[in-house]
Amino acid sequence: MSQIDIQYLFNKSRFPSGWRLLLVILYSPVGVLLVLLRLFVTLQLWLVASLLPDCNPLQTFLSYGISFAFGIIVKFDAESELRDKQSRIIIANNVSVLDHIAIHRATETLIPSLWELPAALSNALGLQEMDMGSKDILIANIKQFLATSTYGIAIQPEFGTTNSKVALLKFNSWPFSIETSVQPVAIKASRPEFVPVHVTSLASTWWTEVFWFMFVPYTIFTLKYLKIRRNSDHEALMREVERDIADALGLKTSSHTISDKTEYERRYRMEMILSNTRSNRSTSNSQVIHSIEIQRMVRQVSEVLPLVPHNVILRDLLKTRNVDVTIANILDGIVTYTPEPNPQTPSSVIPPSGSSNSAKDKIFGTSSFQEKKAKMIQEARERYIKKHGLTNC
Ligand SMILES: *[C@@H]1O[C@H](CO)[C@@H](O)[C@H](O)[C@H]1NC(C)=O
Ligand SMILES: *[C@@H]1O[C@H](CO)[C@@H](O)[C@H](O)[C@H]1NC(C)=O
Repeated sequence: MSQIDIQYLFNKSRFPSGWRLLLVILYSPVGVLLVLLRLFVTLQLWLVASLLPDCNPLQTFLSYGISFAFGIIVKFDAESELRDKQSRIIIANNVSVLDHIAIHRATETLIPSLWELPAALSNALGLQEMDMGSKDILIANIKQFLATSTYGIAIQPEFGTTNSKVALLKFNSWPFSIETSVQPVAIKASRPEFVPVHVTSLASTWWTEVFWFMFVPYTIFTLKYLKIRRNSDHEALMREVERDIADALGLKTSSHTISDKTEYERRYRMEMILSNTRSNRSTSNSQVIHSIEIQRMVRQVSEVLPLVPHNVILRDLLKTRNVDVTIANILDGIVTYTPEPNPQTPSSVIPPSGSSNSAKDKIFGTSSFQEKKAKMIQEARERYIKKHGLTNC
């Protein structure tokens, strides 16, 4: 067990950096079309599998359909051992969320799953629905399945993916207690150089991972059978197989388990959310400051032009950001408005000359613009003088 920092086990980003990202961007229109086409095919597969009875031609059809829909190509490593039928349990590392398709295609085994799918589709995907209520129930179910089916069972004791660059997750030991012999398989997955999208990325959902399978032209799975291992001590068997698979892939073994990964993902998500809200808070802070500033400017204009509704002043201030310019805009009639019917201090607005007419005009906005303007300038002047205590000038 080496002390590898857990962060090196995963890709934080799915995309390459630098000019290679440009390749992905250039390819993206094709990718999106491919996703749409593949989703359509997936729907057809689902319908066919639900409607037709399970039979060989259907299996073949589904098999090709699934390969196309997820762009999966399966190859064997040139140095692969042969499949040893003495062992009905295959143990593999976990490289993606769709390993089961490749494993099934290559090894005629099924992976226990919780998914309730039409039986034919489930088989073609390499999945076998099983009750996973507890480890013991699952082990019992696997034993029963092996006793009644011609298929073998494949188990990926990491129970989670890594970036397959540094180390494996620590294997769980219970899959090695089902039978005393297992055949290890080392799996690699790669994508074409011209669409360098990683097969996995940290804290992404199943759907996202599948989306990228459909987006890229293809994903190649290369499988390599290793020599069968036998040991009645299941802990020892686990360590041997773990070492075999890690060696075959040029990776290290590690002490990080799937729970460590889950915990690391949880922390990673929290950090993302926190850094988002932090930047959000600073923008909203600046918005608050900004709005206080604007309110102050609205008051300033309103002190000079009390008949102009606040929302009119605000709208213009948001454009001009300048009290003087907004006052000029209003006085020059660039900004039009309906005067406020109820100014806060009517006595100072309605001239004391008793010209109720003009007051009414003001209220209903019926006097001519020139009159209004003249009046307002006059009032503004008076207000200004009063405010600054210049009455004696
Ligand atoms: C492989 O890893 C993926 C992603 O972490 C996970 O969803 C899947 O269940 C794993 N496969 C198995 C058989 O545990
Ligand atoms: C960020 O702020 C916007 C409004 O400015 C708000 O709608 C959104 O919910 C905020 N997001 C978070 C994560 O707080």
